[in-house]
Amino acid sequence: MSQVVRMYIYIHIKPITHKKKQTNTYIHTAVASGDKIMGNVLDCAADKPENEDNFSTRTTNISFDNDSDAVLQSEDPVVIQELTRLSSPKNVLWDLQKNFYKDVGEEAWTQGIVPNFVSSNAFIAKCYAKVIVEFANEWFSKSITMEDGSVCEPDLNEPIYILEIGSGSGKLAYLLMNQIMKLCRFFPRDHKDEQGVPFRIIVSDVARRNLEYWFTHSKLKPLFDQGLLEAALIDGEVIGDEITLSSGKVLSKSTLKNPIICVANYVFNTLSHDALQIQPDGVYVGSVRTKSTATTRLNINNETVDAKPFEIIQGMKTEWSYKKVDIGFVEESNSFLNRNNEEYDRKVNEKGLYGNDPILNSLPHQYFDLVTGIYPKDNIRHLNTAEDATILIPIGGLKLLQNLTKICDDANVSLLSLIGDKGYSSFNDMAGLRNPHIAKHGSFSFMVNFHALSMYAAKSGGFMLQGANADGFKCCLIGSNKLSVNKIPMTCLAFNEWANGFGPESFSTLQRCDRDESISPGLKHAIAMVRLANNDAEVFHKFKSTVIDKVGALKTSESVRKDLRKTLKGVLENYFPLQPKRDVSFEVARVYMGLKDYRTSIRLFDASTNYCGAHHVTYHNQGICYFYLEDYDNAITKFEESLTLKDTYHEARKWLEKAKLKVNESAENVVIEEDEMDGTDANSSSNNDGGNYGIAVNNNRSNNNKVLNFNKKKSNIMVV
Ligand SMILES: C[S@@+](CC[C@H](N)C(=O)[O-])C[C@H]1O[C@@H](n2cnc3c(N)ncnc32)[C@H](O)[C@@H]1O
Repeated sequence: MSQVVRMYIYIHIKPITHKKKQTNTYIHTAVASGDKIMGNVLDCAADKPENEDNFSTRTTNISFDNDSDAVLQSEDPVVIQELTRLSSPKNVLWDLQKNFYKDVGEEAWTQGIVPNFVSSNAFIAKCYAKVIVEFANEWFSKSITMEDGSVCEPDLNEPIYILEIGSGSGKLAYLLMNQIMKLCRFFPRDHKDEQGVPFRIIVSDVARRNLEYWFTHSKLKPLFDQGLLEAALIDGEVIGDEITLSSGKVLSKSTLKNPIICVANYVFNTLSHDALQIQPDGVYVGSVRTKSTATTRLNINNETVDAKPFEIIQGMKTEWSYKKVDIGFVEESNSFLNRNNEEYDRKVNEKGLYGNDPILNSLPHQYFDLVTGIYPKDNIRHLNTAEDATILIPIGGLKLLQNLTKICDDANVSLLSLIGDKGYSSFNDMAGLRNPHIAKHGSFSFMVNFHALSMYAAKSGGFMLQGANADGFKCCLIGSNKLSVNKIPMTCLAFNEWANGFGPESFSTLQRCDRDESISPGLKHAIAMVRLANNDAEVFHKFKSTVIDKVGALKTSESVRKDLRKTLKGVLENYFPLQPKRDVSFEVARVYMGLKDYRTSIRLFDASTNYCGAHHVTYHNQGICYFYLEDYDNAITKFEESLTLKDTYHEARKWLEKAKLKVNESAENVVIEEDEMDGTDANSSSNNDGGNYGIAVNNNRSNNNKVLNFNKKKSNIMVV
């Protein structure tokens, strides 16, 4: 034993069990860890890899309420809707989709049902913020002559609105605001907005519950109060001429003075699609028969009622059928080399699949040409031809862009869109005949056809830049018909910088592989990864065991600890409490214990209780912090609070006894000091500030079996 003490300098060896991992936790002691310990020794229960974004393989096992087992499962799927064209507004799929989100609201994210890591983290927020700030500088620096010849004058007294569609949890908007504010040195110099910020962010969603969640969220509420954040209830597919914001302000052609920047991550995959099969003999339109094994449930009165959307989706099966359609002049395609003329529009609209919309109607023609190999050389990327292809047209997403473009056009401002999603980037990705893939993750989603988005952008006179990655999450930048790359080169350069190199998908992959494949990352490794993540709180959470394990090691230098503190500060700024099981305040508090900064730990444990609820281990750890601060009264209070929540928690009981012992010891010390006081009136020293006798003396603890009472008159101590 004496050898161990000699080997290891620090003697605070204490159990701090991760509160969410009650089983399988173990306590490092100096001997067990093999590392030299400087700070407090903390547990590091092995983490199970958490599910990350994986729209195609993830299976969901949700239960939003206790009676979800009342769903009646049928062996054979029941038909919910007979064959209906996928893009039809009457297709039950789109109702199911919206109703799922309306029904579950924020629980889609607080319960970790809908994936959101790659689309809502501090890294992607940094990428988007750079593009946005560049755009603001280009926009506010001069009047721009647009592609259509009109001149746009920036209004230096008005902000640019960043409108996020389908904001979901609101996390990306929060991180984006954080990141934009960090770039305030680079804001347009001449802008005179009263808040000093040339941006407002609008979080929007079709689900009202999400709005209610944002208004009360601890990190978003202050931004609403400052007027930097607005909210709106928006169905992306049916935006009218104006958008009403939570402040009462209306964005319309008469009020909008500067561009809108639309942000939509994992939304286009959610909105409606049309399915086409393109064959050498023509275009076939896909219809779907929707079935489910879960269509009914028993309610609490034992009556049979309709199952909930998420239950129906979980048991959902689809069958497809394709019907050849006449899209008009396919044989004559060659003669329409110039596709930007009225005659072409008239022709495609004659038998258009999409009403009177020449741009949408041109898409099947263009795909038919690609399959038959007669595609004219124009400004659309043309990689190869295929014998046949299955094409999804992201009708809902395109309508969203068209509706926003209309509002902006009417106001003579431009629209810039940052869209992130999973999908296909080239025509070849869609070669072959098959049924469209539907991924289920609580709700469901389709693959977004980025290739069609680029055709849309080109046909409507704008531009689209796309990230280089073929796999995973993809981002694109779309400029409306008023913009071109050379009108806003710095904006495009900023996008290009990450989209064509190390972008959100690369980052997401790297941090996941690093966590899963690195056998024993060190502290510097973990800090570097969190920094690469732009101090993302979730990435920190993934590396928490390394940090907690290594923070106290002797070989960890002061400068590394300094870097760690800085990183933790950034992590806390970026922390957006969402899932109680990812309690970042709690974990950072444990790191601060390792840094022996107990006051900060106590504060962060309080934050943990605020954000993620009270827990016996949180109180226990606070008790330990107070213990090391030699504030035994507060330590006792915290151990007792811990035991109130869980009276079988032995660690807290053990520590409670230790703390009480300390109180008694200090009481005995007081007696000695009293003896030495030579009859001085003790009243002055028995106050709560501690006085000469230490703070333990005067604290009556009614529920303590060793209450210290100070006899003020005679300066005697009685141990009761
Ligand atoms: C897959 S989630 C993405 C959420 C968030 N953008 C993210 O990346 O985590 C899809 C979001 O779109 C919303 N949504 C679904 N249909 C919508 C519609 N028609 N209009 C606007 N939002 C819609 C849902 O409520 C949900 O918040």
